[in-house]
Formats: sequence, C-alpha cells, structure tokens
Amino acid sequence: MTNMLLHWTSLLSVAALVTAQNGGAAPPSSTAVKSGAAPSSSPAKVGSTAGHGAAAAAPPPPPPPESGPTAADIKNIDVSYWLGWIWVAFVGTFFVYQVVLHLIRYVRTVSCLNNDKQAYFAIPHHLYAKFKKSLLDAPLFGTRHHREFKLSTAINVGTLPSRLQTLMLVGYFGTNVAFCVLSIDWSGPYSKVAGELRNRTGVLAVMNMIPLFILATRNNPLISWCGISFDTFNLIHRWIGRVVVLEAVTHMAAWMANKVHTAGWAVVGKSIASSEFIQTGFIGTVAFVFILFASPSAVRHAFYEVFLHLHIAAVALAVGAIWVHLKELPQKKILYAVVAIWVAERLMRVIHLLTRNVGKGGTKAEIEALPGDAIRVTVKMARPWTFGPGQHAYLYMPAIGFWTNHPFSVAWSEEEEDMDSLVGDEKGLPMNRQDILEMNKTSMSFIIRRRTGFTNSLYKKADLSAAGRFTTTAFVEGPYGGEDLTSYGTVMLWAAGIGITHQVPHVRDIVARYANGTTATRRLTLVWIIQSPEHLEWIRTWMTHILSMPRRREILKILLFVTRPRSTKEIHSPSSSVQMYPGKPNVQALIDAEMQEGVGAACVSVCGTGSLADDLRRAVRNREEQWNVDFREESFSW
Ligand SMILES: Cc1cc2nc3c(=O)[nH]c(=O)nc-3n(C[C@H](O)[C@H](O)[C@H](O)COP(=O)(O)OP(=O)(O)OC[C@H]3O[C@@H](n4cnc5c(N)ncnc54)[C@H](O)[C@@H]3O)c2cc1C
Ligand SMILES: *[C@@H]1O[C@H](CO)[C@@H](O)[C@H](O)[C@H]1NC(C)=O
Ligand SMILES: *[C@@H]1O[C@H](CO)[C@@H](O)[C@H](O)[C@H]1NC(C)=O
Repeated sequence: MTNMLLHWTSLLSVAALVTAQNGGAAPPSSTAVKSGAAPSSSPAKVGSTAGHGAAAAAPPPPPPPESGPTAADIKNIDVSYWLGWIWVAFVGTFFVYQVVLHLIRYVRTVSCLNNDKQAYFAIPHHLYAKFKKSLLDAPLFGTRHHREFKLSTAINVGTLPSRLQTLMLVGYFGTNVAFCVLSIDWSGPYSKVAGELRNRTGVLAVMNMIPLFILATRNNPLISWCGISFDTFNLIHRWIGRVVVLEAVTHMAAWMANKVHTAGWAVVGKSIASSEFIQTGFIGTVAFVFILFASPSAVRHAFYEVFLHLHIAAVALAVGAIWVHLKELPQKKILYAVVAIWVAERLMRVIHLLTRNVGKGGTKAEIEALPGDAIRVTVKMARPWTFGPGQHAYLYMPAIGFWTNHPFSVAWSEEEEDMDSLVGDEKGLPMNRQDILEMNKTSMSFIIRRRTGFTNSLYKKADLSAAGRFTTTAFVEGPYGGEDLTSYGTVMLWAAGIGITHQVPHVRDIVARYANGTTATRRLTLVWIIQSPEHLEWIRTWMTHILSMPRRREILKILLFVTRPRSTKEIHSPSSSVQMYPGKPNVQALIDAEMQEGVGAACVSVCGTGSLADDLRRAVRNREEQWNVDFREESFSW
C-alpha cells in the first residue's frame, strides 16, 4: 500500500516536472508561437500583459502591442527549458551514481558473506578516495562542517555546507544569474532592457518554485533515487528559495525602475493601489522577502514552531498572490504543478497517518520519564511497519502538541514473535483477551532528549504523573529514511548522547545478521560518549538484549566514554567487550586502531554533536587514501 503510494507520488513529481517542461514553461502552443500564430495564452502575453497591465493605471501610452511573441519572449521559454534540463541532468547523474554504488555494494556483500578476510575490499581506489577526501566528505574550509557557528550560546548562525554541496550551490546560483541576463540587449533603450530583465526574472522565479517545493517534501522519491538525504535537500531548498526571492525582487525592481524612469514614483504607488495585476505581484514579492528574513538558522532553531507556521502562512499568501498575478500568463501552468506537488504531498502524509494509526484501537503511546532529562516513548501502532535500521518517524500527540509533529529515530521495535514468546513465558499472570491483543501488536520505542518545546512538555507531564509515566493517543507518521550497512566488513558506529537512538538498531541488526550469515560485517564497534553514567539507563534493557544475542562476542565491541563522571568508582568495565573510560576519546587513535584491525571495506557513522562529527570527519578523511572507508553523518537538526 505504502509502496504503491510512494510510487504514485513519484509519478506525480515526474508529471509535475514534465508539465513544467512541456506545458508549464512553454505553453502547448510553443511551436505555434514560434511560427507566429499566437493564441491568447501565448508568450506574447508575457511581454504585453506584464508591460501593459501596469499601463492601465499609468498615463503615458504604451507602445502598440506586437502581434506575436518577441524574440525575448521565446528566449524566456528557452531559458526555462534549459533550467528544467539542468534539473533532469542533476537527478540523472545522481541516480546513475546511486545505481552504481548499489551494484558495488551488492557484489561486495555477496562476495564477502563467507569470506572472513575481505582483503581486496580494504584497498581504496585512489581516484575515488581523492574525490571523497577533497570533495564528497570535505567541509568547505578546514575541518568545520557540522559544528554550528554561534554568536552566543543561544543564537547559532548555522552550519557550513560541504565542499561538493557548495560547488553545486554556487554553480546553480551562477547559472541562474547567467540565465537572468543572457541575450538581453543591454545597449537597447532603457524601457526595453528593463522590460526584458523583468520578464526573464519573473519567468525564472516561477520556474524555480518547482524544485523549491519538491525539495521541501518529506515524501520525496528523489531522496532515495539520488541518495541525497532530506537534510541536504533542505539545504538546497533554502538556497533555491533565496534564488527565487532574489529573482522576484529583481523582477519587481525592474518594473519599478522602468515606471519611475518613464512616469515617476507617484505612478508606482498608484499602480500598486489600483491594478490587481501589479498589486498581487507586489504582495507576492513582499511575502517572499518576509520569508527570506524569517528563515535564517538562528530564527529557525530558536523558534522552530513559530517559524514553521509563519513560513507556511507566508508561502500560502505568496502562492495565492502569484496565482492571481499569473492569471493571464502561460506561467500559471507551472504554478499549477507547484500547488499539485504541495497538495499531493500533504495528502500522502494524511494517508500515511490514517492508514497507520486509525482503526484497530488506534495508536497508543506510553511516555516514561528517564534519568538524565530523557523520556522513553513506546508506541503500539494500529498498523506498524516492518522496521529497518536508520529509520525515523514523526510523532504527533494531540493532547500535548496539538497538530505539531517532531521527528525522532526509532530506537527499538519489538516484533510479534518476541511478543508471542513473552505472552507464553508470562506464567501465573492473569491476562484477559484485551491484554493479549494489546501485547500482540508490534511496538516501537523512541528515546527523546528533553529540549525546550514539545519535548519539555512531554517530560514534565511524565514526571508529574504517577509512577513517572502516562499513556496518550498518538499518531506516528513514517517510516522515513533507513540505511543499510551490511556491505561493510568493518562498521564503526559513533554516538554522542541521544545520538545513540540512531545507532542501536544498526547494532542489533548487524549482530543478528552476523549470526544468521546475511551480512559482510566481521567487526562492529560502538563508541558512545555520554556525560554521566545515568544516561546508560536510556538503553539498558535493549543493551542487555543485544549482549545476550547469539555469537555477539565474536563481532561486537562497545566503548563507553563518560565525560563528566562524578567519581572514578562509576567507571568500571563490565567485560572485555564492553569497556568504559572516563573523559573524551582520542578520535584519531581509535580510527587508526580500527584501520589496523579492520576487515574489508569500512564505514564510520556518527550521530551526535557537531564537534564530534567534525573531529571524526577529519580523522576519517586523513585515512581515506589508505583505507577504503565511507563516512556517514546523521544530524538531528536542519
Ligand atoms: C531525523 C531526525 C531524528 C531525530 N531523532 C531524535 C531522537 O531519536 N531523539 C531525540 O531526542 N531527538 C531527535 N531528533 C531531534 C528532535 O526532533 C528535536 O529535538 C525535537 O523536535 C525538539 O522539539 P522541541 O519542541 O522540544 O524543540 P525546541 O526546544 O523548541 O527546539 C530544539 C531544536 O529542535 C529543532 N526542532 C524543533 N521542532 C522541530 C520539528 N518539528 N522538526 C524538526 N526540528 C525541530 C529546533 O530547530 C531546535 O534546533 C531528531 C531530529 C531529526 C531531524
Ligand atoms: C498475533 O498476531 C499474529 C499475526 O498477526 C496472529 O497470527 C496471532 O494469532 C496473534 N496472536 C494473538 C494471541 O492474538
Ligand atoms: C537474518 O536476520 C535478519 C535481522 O534480524 C533478518 O532480517 C533476516 O530475515 C534473517 N535472515 C535469515 C535468512 O534468517
């Protein structure tokens, strides 16, 4: 069902792209236009309406309308096409790259299943290693990537994109600038130049709204097709957003400059007040500028919920205004595609929510306060999914957060067979039918660190409840994400604090697969950095489960670092495979040890604070030319 739906949205997004290609940017009559027969919705209007709509309220008579589209109008359509082809090329390139990566991983997995040496796969390919070291995994400058730039402890100015991301963003930005000015005759008369610039930037701004909207969606098939994470798409979304705002502002400025030039400021005001066309364009641009100023990282992180609601409201206003603004113009077809993308994605979310959570008694969540400012949320979903490692879901709890939803990694899931055995084991305890039915549902657990908003309310409510726990109705939207690490001979998982929720499922999955022979992994190391030993409580029962899994001793090693122990008595290593240390780890030394002892291809994955992620990134990059190692980072924010 979900797959079908996903497929369906994929098709829809493609359809949107195609619409943009065929119907949107160029109206169906584009060939007719080129041959001179201009129907009423032909691009001729792009120039004439935009030019004369304003003139309706302006005294100076406009030049007589031309009978067909001008060369400039046709150029605008060409440019939209080129932009569309650039997106197609981008997606195509990443898709091919993903297919090749998957093939390589598949071959590696299969050839390593019964191979404990895997020596061949430990050797990096020198060109690919160079590419990873200097582009793919490289921060923009030096070693700083994820660690946020902070003005004070409260305000952070955001993280820097990586080198490859920056190259692409600068490239896209440059392309847009070039497309905005391309083939405009700058020596021409003032009003002609301004008019051409105005139309071009307007067309491009609307065109760019297609990727802008696609990249803001959670249910975006391009995430898996391109292997680009939602975080990264979010980054691109923000930059394309800035491009759209700049183009819209230039569009309005060009119109204004021309108006002022020919008729003076007074007429500008009059046009905005009296012409619906100009008014809606003006409102759209103002809404865009508002969005620009309301969305920097500092604002987003400090007031996420406020940001989100204002953002959606301003987007709705902008789209509504542009809808009216484009009434007579062919570009309105692009806007249809944009709105269709938005509606389809929201619909997907609702369908996900309903199919997963409604009926069969609904989804119930038990919230439990844990030591160390954390809570455990265990949900029994009406219709759970088969959980895979690396997945996250959005939690809604109407009683606490109304309609707001927050993403959390699924840290554990208890499958039906476990539950069945539990029911069988539970001797002597009287159980009624309802209990058994309840027990039989798959449960999923989240560990949540208390922050200041929704998570704080949850914590406080649990803390004040009897026995430190309460039950409420919840809705779970997911699954999203997921990653497969089974093709690596060596897997090293790093977590700081709550980041452990991302790694526990990998540990469990790989240990289970090692025992049943379905993974290439021969060495699995978990490094967890916590502030105080009470944080161990968060996952104690799950760790006990993992430590008692068959053949676990042959593969799993756990290193715990306690940065702020209250006394040295707290630090003791329970066994040789679970070791505890005070203080911070020496990241490079641990990576080097793994390189010496590792088996085959390696993966270093991190989920935690920015400074840990940056240290690891540097340590891994230092060895990428000697060791076939991939670096993966999961950040809990965007
Ligand atoms: C993929 C993913 C997985 C995550 N997994 C976990 C997990 O397993 N355990 C855990 O404790 N935390 C996890 N987080 C972080 C968690 O989503 C935030 O801590 C939580 O939403 C904060 O809620 P709040 O209202 O208390 O936030 P606030 O105290 O208001 O803000 C704290 C931070 O959370 C961000 N944030 C707030 N609301 C949202 C939202 N709706 N969507 C995205 N970001 C938001 C803010 O930008 C801010 O940086 C994960 C985040 C992501 C993106
Ligand atoms: C538990 O669920 C399984 C599969 O959904 C079903 O076959 C079984 O009968 C259920 N057991 C109980 C006790 O309800
Ligand atoms: C091996 O274990 C994994 C993880 O539990 C499971 O998904 C997979 O189906 C198992 N495979 C076999 C052949 O038993």
